[in-house]
Amino acid sequence: MNFRTIIEPFRIKSVEAVKFTHREDREARLREAGYNVFRLHAEDVLIDLLTDSGTGAMSSAQWGALMEGDESYAGSRSFYRFRDVVGALTGMKHIIPTHQGRAAERILFHTVLEPGMIVPNNNHFDTTRANIEVEGSEALDLVIPEGRVPAALHPFKGNIDLAALERLLDTAADRIPLVMVTVTNNSGGGQPVSLENLRGVRRLCDCYGKPFFLDACRFAENAYFIKLREDGQAHRAPRDIAREMFSLADGCTMSAKKDGLANIGGFLAMNDDGWAEQCRNLLILTEGFPTYGGLAGYDLEAIAQGLEEVVEESYLRYRIRSTAYLGEKLLAAGVPIIQPPGGHAIYVDARALLSHIPPLAYPGIALANALYVEAGVRAVEIGTVMFGMHPDGRETPATMDLVRLAIPRRVYTQSHIDYVAEAVIYVAQAKETLRGYRITRAPRVLRHFTAEFEGL
Ligand code: F0G
Repeated sequence: MNFRTIIEPFRIKSVEAVKFTHREDREARLREAGYNVFRLHAEDVLIDLLTDSGTGAMSSAQWGALMEGDESYAGSRSFYRFRDVVGALTGMKHIIPTHQGRAAERILFHTVLEPGMIVPNNNHFDTTRANIEVEGSEALDLVIPEGRVPAALHPFKGNIDLAALERLLDTAADRIPLVMVTVTNNSGGGQPVSLENLRGVRRLCDCYGKPFFLDACRFAENAYFIKLREDGQAHRAPRDIAREMFSLADGCTMSAKKDGLANIGGFLAMNDDGWAEQCRNLLILTEGFPTYGGLAGYDLEAIAQGLEEVVEESYLRYRIRSTAYLGEKLLAAGVPIIQPPGGHAIYVDARALLSHIPPLAYPGIALANALYVEAGVRAVEIGTVMFGMHPDGRETPATMDLVRLAIPRRVYTQSHIDYVAEAVIYVAQAKETLRGYRITRAPRVLRHFTAEFEGL
């Protein structure tokens, strides 16, 4: 008998207590935090959906692997295990460990960019964009039109617009050092990219002689969506689909804090010998020797083990299904979300829900703050605060104002998620009482992390 209920493919060996607080406490903590949930003490949060990055639960096999860590400065055994696992997955020649994804981005972009260049992507994540802009280059988002409309249904809403990419390559090839695609497309709702689309990017890159890099943070979730949704892929193992995704690219940046199932770490991988040498030299300057890249030997072990576990079908079935479960509950209650549900998170369309709060009064902040005050749930704005400020100091509404409920891997149970759904629906029903915010202090770059607000 094939039972229909999809269960967690693990049992729990160690638990961590969460702290229950009162509404008045949370109001006070949020006020002290300048109405920015990034500035809260995590201890004052009941269910933390700020990010799925580095917040997952490691398996007993990963904890065991930690003890195998070889902490030699150069040439440690743990590096070679890490290199072999990443090499077998990506097929790439040069594997460069970094302390997290953005370190890989900084090293790559500092190496390949000159002022005035353009890096196209489906949607750049905030750190990717910032690491490109800091080099005086432009981070260009070319997701398909459906990817910009929260309610539009498309099986591969993270696809890059191949016609737009071709037009860009046609007119500005000399300013484009590489083409990037983010799997899954985090800023666009955790939406997958199809193999067919990746093959299309490969063809264009071959035509114009450009390297193709994946931002591979959530490659395994993307591979599972391909298995579920792309013609002719249903019979394949997620690991084989992932291998094919990587085989289409010339390089990748990776945050092992996502689909590495680790709490810290990342890597940069590529086939080009010249770029790899330059990147390693930069790595030594800021991260560490190329066989540890700012990580402990035990981190390399945890990542190597995590990369083996993350492509297991039972894990991915549970992972993708449990995120969809939250999305379906919210949809059934009429809460507008990005559809279909993404892989690692549900994105509430705060602009649609709070249509009485204009984008420049930050509806996403209003919703995230209300969720914390009412229920102790921490989510993150992905909208005008995160993306609305331009390098020249102008502020415009972002394409969307979203609130992301990111689900840490293997951490929360179904009843935690039921509680979250109840909380979001409660706040959505009281939407008329929510007000916008204005910024009282903010840095120029990556302002969402530290900005302070006051209510309007
Ligand atoms: N690329 C994507 C698509 C990401 O989602 C992230 C991080 C990074 C790169 C950078 O990796 O954090 O290891 O330096 N995203 C986290 C998030 C922070 O909450 O979505 P990192």
